[in-house]
Amino acid sequence: MQDSLFLRAAFSKSTERPPVWMMRQAGRFMPEYWEIKNKYSFLEMCKTPEIAADVTMLPVDLLGIDAAILFSDILVTGEAMGGDLSFTQGVGPKFANPVRSQADVDKLLTDVDDKLQYVADAIKVIQQRLNGKIPLIGFAGAPFTVMSYLVEGGSSKDFKLTKLMLHNHPEMAHALLAKIAKVTINYLNLQIDAGVNAVQLFDSWALALSWDDYHEFSHRYNKQIIEGLNRKDVPVISFCKGSSVFAPIMAEAKPDVVSIDWNADLLDIKKKLPAGMAVQGNLDPHILYAEKHVIKDRIHRLFERMRGEDGFIFNLGHGIMPDIPFDNVKYAVELVKEFRYEV
Ligand code: CP3
Repeated sequence: MQDSLFLRAAFSKSTERPPVWMMRQAGRFMPEYWEIKNKYSFLEMCKTPEIAADVTMLPVDLLGIDAAILFSDILVTGEAMGGDLSFTQGVGPKFANPVRSQADVDKLLTDVDDKLQYVADAIKVIQQRLNGKIPLIGFAGAPFTVMSYLVEGGSSKDFKLTKLMLHNHPEMAHALLAKIAKVTINYLNLQIDAGVNAVQLFDSWALALSWDDYHEFSHRYNKQIIEGLNRKDVPVISFCKGSSVFAPIMAEAKPDVVSIDWNADLLDIKKKLPAGMAVQGNLDPHILYAEKHVIKDRIHRLFERMRGEDGFIFNLGHGIMPDIPFDNVKYAVELVKEFRYEV
């Protein structure tokens, strides 16, 4: 397994081509996902190991990607802590009991490994199905991003309530973030113990934060988490939207890979990181809506830019949107897999 393209690239070893996987590869852009989704609720899918394994395997079987990602959600930690979580079609995630006061923070549980055991069970089933073919990536939400859902009670455009808590009640925000961080360390270690080959920390909404707030309310906890992992030979990938600006700070937490949004030039970012730290990214997912010649041109441009660089995992700058044509995703994966640098 350590010889797989993905793990070699994650540890900045040389590969004959960049490995490819895509955030949200196990999702709604696949008709086969809907066949399963129409029978179960999203949380039922996450909590039933056989179904979670079926969905994890869809992009392995249909796209031939170089790494699988566990089918789950970043919000399962918030649920295990006491959040009343539901997912409704067209509405997205909701917490019916948002965290708005110190009393709400105090009520949240932190000893929740038992409640997340279904994830360990799913990982074991998935690894049996993968049978050593490609690595499996586990993941968790970063404290700031999970906090934003707990405080807002769902998705948000401006994170108004979350930022008000940071600014008016920083001690309350820190108490909440510290609790989520503790749960996240245990949760990722539970995934590592169950057999994942890599882990990714998703701080999707860090881009909402100013430079100082990012240090105080996001980076500090992400660093704690990365330091608390029993990494062994499991690489850690740190993702955030906002990484074009925050990547050098993200690197201070010492992940093995920094996953970059699509705003920055990937090579410029890589040069700002310590030697031996890999990058992942960073195609604008909207390119996958475009015509095939555009997709080809942009992927080849990115590869040309990264010529000669070890430690490059091809991915999108953020997740695949549900209405991106499946054929375009498949085409992009095939392009990457056929690619070889000409000497
Ligand atoms: O990447 C994968 O394919 C693995 C599974 C995965 C899901 N969510 C499945 C999912 C992963 C890694 C996530 C992470 C996640 N979840 C993030 C971070 C990544 C990112 O995109 O920024 C966030 C912010 C969430 C929270 C979340 N979950 C939202 C906002 C929504 C609804 C809206 C949306 O964009 O889909 C979900 C639901 C969700 N998570 C679905 C899937 C396949 C759709 C559920 C359905 O079928 O209705």
